[in-house]
Amino acid sequence: CGIVGYIGKRDVAPLLLEGLARLEYRGYDSAGMVVTSPKAAGLKMVKAKGRVRDLEARVPKRFTGTTGIAHTRWATHGAPSDINSHPHLDPENKVAVVHNGIVDNAAELRTKLEAEGVVFASETDTEVITHLIARSQAETLEEKVREALKHIEGTYGIAVMHADFNDRIVVARNGSPVILGIGEKEMLVASDVAALIAHTRQVVTLDDGEMATLKADDFRTYTTSGASTTATPETVEWEAASYDMGGHDTFMHKEISEQPDAVDRVLRGRIDDRFSTVHLGGLNLDPREARTIRRIKILGCGTSYHAGLIGAGLIESMARIPADAEPASEFRYRNPVVDPDTLYIAVSQSGETYDVLAAVQELKRKGARVLGVVNVVGSAIAREADGGMYVHAGPEVCVVSTKCFTNTVVAFALLALHLGRIRDLSVTDGKRIIEGLRKLPGQIEEILKSEDEIKKLAKEYAGAQSMMFIGRVRGYPVALEASLKLKEISYIHAEAYPASELKHGPLALIEPALPTVAIVPDDDLLEKNRGALEEIKARSGRILAVAHQPQEKADHTIVVPKNEDELDPILMGIPLQLLAYHTALAMGRDIDKPRNLAKSVTVE
Ligand code: G6P
Repeated sequence: CGIVGYIGKRDVAPLLLEGLARLEYRGYDSAGMVVTSPKAAGLKMVKAKGRVRDLEARVPKRFTGTTGIAHTRWATHGAPSDINSHPHLDPENKVAVVHNGIVDNAAELRTKLEAEGVVFASETDTEVITHLIARSQAETLEEKVREALKHIEGTYGIAVMHADFNDRIVVARNGSPVILGIGEKEMLVASDVAALIAHTRQVVTLDDGEMATLKADDFRTYTTSGASTTATPETVEWEAASYDMGGHDTFMHKEISEQPDAVDRVLRGRIDDRFSTVHLGGLNLDPREARTIRRIKILGCGTSYHAGLIGAGLIESMARIPADAEPASEFRYRNPVVDPDTLYIAVSQSGETYDVLAAVQELKRKGARVLGVVNVVGSAIAREADGGMYVHAGPEVCVVSTKCFTNTVVAFALLALHLGRIRDLSVTDGKRIIEGLRKLPGQIEEILKSEDEIKKLAKEYAGAQSMMFIGRVRGYPVALEASLKLKEISYIHAEAYPASELKHGPLALIEPALPTVAIVPDDDLLEKNRGALEEIKARSGRILAVAHQPQEKADHTIVVPKNEDELDPILMGIPLQLLAYHTALAMGRDIDKPRNLAKSVTVE
């Protein structure tokens, strides 16, 4: 979901619509906004099920104002509909609330309010916040909001307007991002800098438990118990242009194409040729501590989990520390043993994914040391972690992750090299890996040149009902991620298996109608992988191989440049991003905004 709000002198509706469009990637089943102005008599509202453009089509004439809040929603409580979209108003149209997050005790509060005679308009959890504010007897809007929030259990990022206090917007944060944009005689608020950056680079990120009052020419921050807090605006580095498609037809295509530059950025300034290692200042881990780590556990969700799986492999092979990755949500709920000698690493593009954040908080509560591998600077996970690495992929707008996945894996290669060189990776091996890392941007460039060939292949495979992805050891997480990418954007069913497991079950599925994509690096497992291709061919399965040389048993091979064995997985995933992309394109899918998915899932 996304929030955007504005108070100033400009006509607010077009500005909010533009902000919403920039947030749409975070969730998009309905949208709405409320506007007013200092002289206006009340609040004006418009909402619509569907995309931001559906809302735009519905905006009535003379929907003018200079203050407003808007929301784009991804349904959790209550199906997507006009009525369930935000903002939520009270029956007297005085209070308007937009909300990201989940009110855990909504059902209980609703029963209580209904018993007091309140009539609810929607099925959402958010509406209880509106009624609580509307019914508060407190004198100021700030106090009304504060009083209401005392009853709320759960997570929220909210923005509130009130017809009787129309010179201000009051916002509050607990677990869902709220970022203030500080302008010249105008103030903005949003759940994501994407919606602010066209207007200002000066931002203030609220902490959990913090609130703010925005007026056209000033803002102040304070805690939910009323004590003032200090907030110094920070400058956002990201370019506004990163949020435009820049000549590409989709953000996904743009972000795939940006990978050579993105990888260059994650390497920049970190390589230390003198000692054949890398500098990672943000880790906050001195060499003596690094030597005491006995195990590494990586946590993430979706594509970031897959990046973590490759990361674990890199750490094991270079630093010889036992490492594994697990979906953060699974980890949280199985009452894990938290071991003092284990280093925990949370991976997240957005730095806001609730399941990952909650795992980090639980780990910290148990006294564990947690590092973050995160893209969004200053995000919740980055702030909560004891240290970490930013992956510097730049803003990623397409719901599915491509450049950030690649950069995260490269960041793990840097970490593995760093830990390896403190433990027992030799100078020669360190040099070898550094040379390999430096080759990556150019090699990615080379792979991107085979786009036309991959596009042809995609057309061939677009008719498949289902696809199998296989890989072994280093290649297996590559297969997992390629399969996820295909299903997310093309809706073709796909599954990934370790090549070695084929004969233990999935071989039963193999027939001409089920093509297999096989990851076949030129390493010590080449012959084993070739064996798997033979098993498939013997059952008349079609095979598309991604390999360093043409594979005899495969119907087609996408040949990628060879790097060091350890770093090959980084390159082998890239043609498969293009394969998923062109398959989805051939099928006419909405690539940047696949159905039912959101870019960052800030609720459980
Ligand atoms: C959502 C997105 C996925 C993403 C996952 C983790 O499910 O649809 O594409 O991989 O969240 O996001 P994060 O921001 O934590 O990397």
